[in-house]
Amino acid sequence: KMNAFITKLMLRMTVDEKIGQLNLLTGGEATTGSVVSNDVESKIKKGQVGGMFSFTTPQKIRKAQEIAVNQSRLKIPIIFGQDVIHGYKTTFPIPLALSSTWDLSLIEKTARIAAVEATADGLNWTFSPMVDISRDPRWGRISEGSGEDTYLGSQIAKAMVKGYQGDDLSKYNTMMACVKHFALYGAAEAGRDYNTTDMSLHRMYNEYLPPYKAAIDAGAGSVMTSFNDINGVPATANKWLMTDVLRKQWGFKGFVVTDYTAVNELIDHGLGDLQTVSALSLNAGVEMDMVGEGFLTTLKKSLQEGKVKQAQIDQACRLVLEAKYKLGLFEDPFRYCDEERAKTEILKPSHLQFAREAATQSFVLLKNENQTLPLKKSGSVALIGPLANTGANMPGTWSVNSDLANTASLLDGMKATLGSDVKILHSLGANLLADAEYQTRATMFGRDIPRDNRPEAEIIKEAIDLAKKADVIVAALGEASEMTGEASSRTDLNIPDTQKRLLKELLKTGKPVVLVLFTGRPLTLTWEQENVPAILNVWFGGTEAAKAITDVLFGDVNPSGKLTATFPQNVGQIPLYYSHKNTGRPLPEGKWFSKFRSNYLDVTNEPLYPFGYGLSYTTFEYSDIKLSKSSFKAGESITASVTVKNTGMREGKEVVQLYTQDLVGSITRPLKELKGFQKISLNPGESKIVTFKITEEDLKFYNATLKYLAEPGEFKVFIGGNSRDTKEAGFSLAR
Ligand code: IFM
Repeated sequence: KMNAFITKLMLRMTVDEKIGQLNLLTGGEATTGSVVSNDVESKIKKGQVGGMFSFTTPQKIRKAQEIAVNQSRLKIPIIFGQDVIHGYKTTFPIPLALSSTWDLSLIEKTARIAAVEATADGLNWTFSPMVDISRDPRWGRISEGSGEDTYLGSQIAKAMVKGYQGDDLSKYNTMMACVKHFALYGAAEAGRDYNTTDMSLHRMYNEYLPPYKAAIDAGAGSVMTSFNDINGVPATANKWLMTDVLRKQWGFKGFVVTDYTAVNELIDHGLGDLQTVSALSLNAGVEMDMVGEGFLTTLKKSLQEGKVKQAQIDQACRLVLEAKYKLGLFEDPFRYCDEERAKTEILKPSHLQFAREAATQSFVLLKNENQTLPLKKSGSVALIGPLANTGANMPGTWSVNSDLANTASLLDGMKATLGSDVKILHSLGANLLADAEYQTRATMFGRDIPRDNRPEAEIIKEAIDLAKKADVIVAALGEASEMTGEASSRTDLNIPDTQKRLLKELLKTGKPVVLVLFTGRPLTLTWEQENVPAILNVWFGGTEAAKAITDVLFGDVNPSGKLTATFPQNVGQIPLYYSHKNTGRPLPEGKWFSKFRSNYLDVTNEPLYPFGYGLSYTTFEYSDIKLSKSSFKAGESITASVTVKNTGMREGKEVVQLYTQDLVGSITRPLKELKGFQKISLNPGESKIVTFKITEEDLKFYNATLKYLAEPGEFKVFIGGNSRDTKEAGFSLAR
């Protein structure tokens, strides 16, 4: 039915109208490039607009759609997109934080709620999930993904697509997902955004490509190209990537959109003029051009000159029309424009409640000496730091729809949640950054961070005098939300100096100090780990972050988040990730340095906090691993179980993680690879047996010739509460 409908429609379309469908314009509410679309209305009338983004509310979208379906010759509806990344108006924690919940149904539900709210506001397409694996915290966009791990990243990719798209894309409250940024954007050299990537094929296939494929297998309707070049060919002009891998190997049936002006940027990559690069991009397998209008202005000429084929334009147009058909837009162009739904669905109390719960689950307790946490709900707390009294900072990067002005600061959230039980004193204590210009760069997009221009010593003294009057100090320090995200790469991953000087002074008071760390990436916290009694990493927790932080600090919720990106000891160790190889010269067991071995002179090879790490207010004990047998064949399976016991005094959740190691391979294999996890809840004294099934499928990888197979032989299996502290057993896969 769809094919016949589109074929009939396309018979009536001129070349210009077909090319018009390949054009994506921005309404200008959230721009991340130098070009903004103009003459939008007249372009819609001329049939030159296939999609629009950053344009919201049912009223505005209805108006634009009316022009398309009433005043353009063929009345083809527009698809409306937006960066709905971690929630819509109800904003959830940033994706790196959400991944730290290790709770797939929670993550799926955040995407579902985001879709319910965004579609109520007229949208039907989101530029999410962002599934770029990253092992480089210098890269600001590590905050927008699910961290370093292929397996976890793939599971999360699937869950998000399911959450956005549901079972029926044409429903009024589901929206089309766009998996991005295809591909390898998270491997930009030196963590500098938009930089080159260069990678072996087997690393790509084994480690970086699976999450994109998982999203596509889950039915993602669209894919966005990345800005970077890959082994010499920019992704946006990369025929191998878009056609051979995406279409032929993976069977992708949706459409590919570029990133913002990525076609035009091919000129700067050095591939030719606008006409050349537009043709290159279309021929590579890109269907829609975001903002730059290279397709709109040059493809017809390229067609006349034989540089692109009519069939290629037709195919691209067909794929865009198919997406609109699947969304139900031909049946009802106004399906997503329901002013009533916008009033009732957006910021619904149940959504806000879930945002609070999601935030509490995402926080990671990094240190808790002498049970400094949870705090007592009595006495007085000195809440100090540049991030204590700013609500706008809470939603985090890519929260264009968040109501920044009405998001509670930690100070307000604590007061509202605790009432008069706890006396809360507040002082700024330090500026976010010493350099005012750097602070401006780090707080773009209206993130309102207080600044005090008095001499630093005066600001600190004021805070210390206040802190001395309290029973306990909570230091709200770290990054402003725009210090991570797009175009926010950093080379120094310490807590900024001004804040560190404040922290040192706070510690000198002798009062218990809790560091509430705001960050969108792994930071280097070596000094803090040595000196601060308690560290709670709260990322950027979204609309309800302030209440959620209070819930965890004061013990209403026991933290259970686990890191999904390794925290290094220093920047020199980067890239540092748990699934590394052994090398030919590994360190001897128990040594941290040995001459002519793979190590550093000045620091151990160990991370500060490993992948999968996170503490709880209770403690868990793991039994040895029990295997159902010691060997199995293809087609069979083996189970590995442990008994996990809550040995502390409180109910708590634990993420039980399963890793394997292939001991001998035809190519070098990682020392550990995550293959499964289960999040369990245990009452004090309670034990549970956690069982994982391992099949041949779990042991497969791409070999040197990119064959996907499991190689018979010896394997190790590890189970534990993080990637470092594990129990170990062995089994073999028989021939
Ligand atoms: O979706 C984003 C992308 O992640 C970065 N560049 C801009 C796009 C649209 O806003």
